[in-house]
Order: sequence, then C-alpha cells, then structure tokens
Amino acid sequence: MKKTATKKKILSVAVFCSGQGTNLQAILDACRRGKISARVVVVIVDNASALAISRAQKAGVPVVFVDPAQCPSRAQYGKVLAAATARFKPDLIALAGFMRILSPSFVRRYKGKIINIHPALLPAFPGAHAVRDALAAGVKTTGVTVHFVDEQVDHGPVIAQRPIPVKRSDTEETLLRRLHRAEHQLYPEVIQQIARTGSNKRVRSK
Ligand code: GRF
Repeated sequence: MKKTATKKKILSVAVFCSGQGTNLQAILDACRRGKISARVVVVIVDNASALAISRAQKAGVPVVFVDPAQCPSRAQYGKVLAAATARFKPDLIALAGFMRILSPSFVRRYKGKIINIHPALLPAFPGAHAVRDALAAGVKTTGVTVHFVDEQVDHGPVIAQRPIPVKRSDTEETLLRRLHRAEHQLYPEVIQQIARTGSNKRVRSK
C-alpha cells in the first residue's frame, strides 16, 4: 500500500501583550529551538512602549498596535482587535500579560481558542495583584495557571497549573521571579500540548 506522508501541523499563535513580554520571549525561544510545533504569527499590543514589541521585532514577527485611545468603548476595541487578529488567521490566541479585558463578542468569536497565563493557582487570587494578594493572605503555596478564557476575568477552564511554595522570606519580587520561571516553562508546554492534540486536556503538573 502506498504510504501517504502526513504533514506536521504547525500551530499559528497570536500573542497579546502589554508590557515586558518575558512570556512572549519564552514562547518565541521554544518555537525557534523547535521545542514546540508552533509559530508566532503576530504580536498584538495595546501599549506602544511595551518591551514585547522589540522582542517580536528581533524575532521577525509582525507587531500590531491596537490603540485603546482610538476606541471609545470595550466593544469598539474588541471589534478593532478582532479585525487585526483575523488578518493573521491564528489557531490560538495566547494572552501574555495583556492588561485589558476582552469584549464578550471577541471572546465568543474565538471561543475555545484563547488562553491566558496567570501568576496564581486560580480560582485563588484573580486580578492584577495576584502575587501581592497571595503574600498578604499568608498562603504556603501559590503557583501559575494556564486556562481557557471566558467572559469573566481570570476565569475559564483550567488547562494546567504548577504549584510554587512560598518561602517565609519571600518578597513580591523574589516570589514573582520564581513564578515567572515556572510560567516560562509551562506556557510553551501547554501550547505544545494544544499543537499536538488540539485538545484542552490538563497538562500534567511537575
Ligand atoms: C505574567 O506574570 C502573567 O502571569 C500575567 O502578566 C505577567 C506578564 O509578564 N498575566 P510578561 O509580560 O510576560 O513578562
């Protein structure tokens, strides 16, 4: 019987960022090293001075700045964002420090295709101060979560979590450093799982 060659699918990923872009960098590095069957097709930012822009440019990835100042409402911003995203036909949208709440219609349009990374073990400590909040609560363990995005903030089916012990001596800075290291491993792993299986099964925590 004649063998038919199966072409390896490369997942097209749009990454949305607002700031440093260290998670973007981890994804770009994993793609470049062939560790994940994915390609970043566009980086979309809502902040013209995001460091993520130069990281994308260095990797030769197109950057689109969707300016919130041009959009009077979240719904309007969502429309412009959707149009910008659609041009690149991504299989997956990875939010990586994108500090903006997506409009319900954007989330519906890309339902099941948007993932987010958060520096806590959701549902604990949602919001912009997850690390500070975990320290203030005195928890012994926090961690990172990758989840599918639904219409609520830092909410939706969990894909993977990685726990990180909190040390008595931890400050926001030292804890954040360890959480970031975990994020930079976990996010590419989840993207690879989605590339491989196309599924939202849990990624086993190490
Ligand atoms: C990460 O800690 C992520 O969990 C949160 O925003 C931060 C983004 O960091 N959603 P960076 O821009 O990837 O460095």
